[in-house]
Amino acid sequence: MVIFTEQVNELIRCRRSTKPSLFNGNKINDKIIWTILENSNWAPNHGLTQPWRYKVFSSAGLNKLAEFQADLYQKTTPDEKFKPEKYERMKSNILKSSHVIAICMERQKSGKILEIEEIEAVACSVQNMALTAAAYQICSFWGSGGVTYTQELKEFLGLGEKDKCLGYLYLGYSDSPATKSHRDPIQDKVEWIS
Ligand SMILES: Cc1cc2nc3c(=O)[nH]c(=O)nc-3n(C[C@H](O)[C@H](O)[C@H](O)COP(=O)(O)O)c2cc1C
Repeated sequence: MVIFTEQVNELIRCRRSTKPSLFNGNKINDKIIWTILENSNWAPNHGLTQPWRYKVFSSAGLNKLAEFQADLYQKTTPDEKFKPEKYERMKSNILKSSHVIAICMERQKSGKILEIEEIEAVACSVQNMALTAAAYQICSFWGSGGVTYTQELKEFLGLGEKDKCLGYLYLGYSDSPATKSHRDPIQDKVEWIS
């Protein structure tokens, strides 16, 4: 195995989340999407349950997803709380993306592995995708707002009762990708016992 230590450090620290509102509509080659998905498949997971399941929306699929979630928002939001700009954003975030990947967790049938560990494994898998996207200079954004945790979305995605949708990974290109973020020093978050 060849390790490019400095490149890995740089990739991890320079990966940024770019909001889909900043995407320019350019399309990602499906072959690169498959590479991103292939790398997602190599995440660590307890008991080799490989709980990540992905629904990839592209082309007309994006329209279906955009219509579905904007309509759901409209149907389930009382008039006094309904925000037209949110309704529009629920469509435009999807339509500005090249691909949107619904991030799903398929619950192990026996339930032997804890659910939290299945979710953790999916999160590791998503980070593999975000890092791979960054390596290809593709923008990504994990969003979990809007209709993410609704029963209606679960049904739309064809998920089982115990499965979960954990959000969308929006993928696209941008003329003004995010470059800045902030983290408090790691030293503040570590207790080192020696
Ligand atoms: C599970 C998960 C869900 C998220 N959902 C949202 C979201 O709904 N809206 C949002 O603005 N940011 C959301 N974020 C955060 C951004 O994706 C992003 O990670 C954060 O703003 C930090 O920026 P950076 O990744 O460029 O450092 C979520 C992150 C994670 C890990």
